Amino acid sequence: ASLELGPYSHFMQKEIHEQPKALSDTIEVVLDDGFVPELFGPAAANVLPQLTGVKILACGTSYYAGLTAKYWIESIAGVVCDVEIASEYRYRDAYADPNHLVVTISQSGETLDTMEALKYAKSLGHQHALSICNVRESAIPRASELVFYTRAGAEIGVASTKAFTTQLVSLFALAVTLGKVRGRVSAEQEAQYLDELRHLPGSVQHALNLEPQIKAWSSQFAAKNDALFLGRGLHYPIALEGALKLKEISYIHAEAYPAGELKHGPLALVDENMPVVVIAPNDVLLEKVKSNMQEVRARGGELFVFADADSHFVDSDGVHVIRTPRHVGVLSPIVHSIPVQILAYHVALARGTDVDKPRNLAKSVTVE
Ligand code: G6P
Repeated sequence: ASLELGPYSHFMQKEIHEQPKALSDTIEVVLDDGFVPELFGPAAANVLPQLTGVKILACGTSYYAGLTAKYWIESIAGVVCDVEIASEYRYRDAYADPNHLVVTISQSGETLDTMEALKYAKSLGHQHALSICNVRESAIPRASELVFYTRAGAEIGVASTKAFTTQLVSLFALAVTLGKVRGRVSAEQEAQYLDELRHLPGSVQHALNLEPQIKAWSSQFAAKNDALFLGRGLHYPIALEGALKLKEISYIHAEAYPAGELKHGPLALVDENMPVVVIAPNDVLLEKVKSNMQEVRARGGELFVFADADSHFVDSDGVHVIRTPRHVGVLSPIVHSIPVQILAYHVALARGTDVDKPRNLAKSVTVE
């Protein structure tokens, strides 16, 4: 394994650092051909114009990719999008609109609950299914009419990293393509999205370069029993993913909240023993997030903030700031995924856990 790991200590660390490449490989075809239906298979040119909504089904980290996609799909494509945990969906009397595209997201393509949810959706009358998957010819894409393969390469670490960010970029491509088909994306807008995609691997590389600063924070988490992650809008699912990563590999209890919901519960938990991670990009919600941060500070909570270079945060008493790359617009959740992955990795190292194979978890869950 040491040969395969090269300069890295674990597969998770290697896979975190492979993200600029995994993302370039995944978006290459979009940069070459533009946001065309054929990205999703030969049948897509016929299928996409008929769609009036999207239903996303997935588990774990892939589910959080779906939650992020909801924001893109509703705002860019202008169609309703709902996102469900596959193991819940498969056992409920769900409403099925035949013109809503079922999108399954699965790194392995073999997750049993996701596979069963897909079959169930079809049995309820959904006509069309798209699989976003990282493993060619696995069970879920084989059962789907439309397919988009992420090109993350083999992912070995149980905690998903590069599969997640490549899923996000694929879902963004789906949102823009659907928007184009529906006449909601102008040529200028498309050119701008392509430009943002082109710059994405560079911004991700910038975020990776923050590793020494993030590592310096890790000892302050390693001694704690709990952590809270806050984000808003498109970055709320990234807060969820950050909390999931931390609990999976460091065994620290972590949860995520959309920051505006703090006052409806989690504020009661905040004290000096509960570090609070804030994802605070310079977007329309920044001022709201700042006032949520004051609520935490006022209760003695220590803040660890990932803020864009242009959001003018500075360190102060109980407020630690790491500056992420300049705000990259609509793809910002992808860039902000990187620091929360790195934080979880270094906290786990500080606690001495088995980072690549956390206790009780499996890479691919093919049983119920
Ligand atoms: C397991 C893995 C997670 C993964 C989830 C869904 O829980 O440990 O990393 O997100 O399964 O897997 P899938 O292959 O369907 O994306």
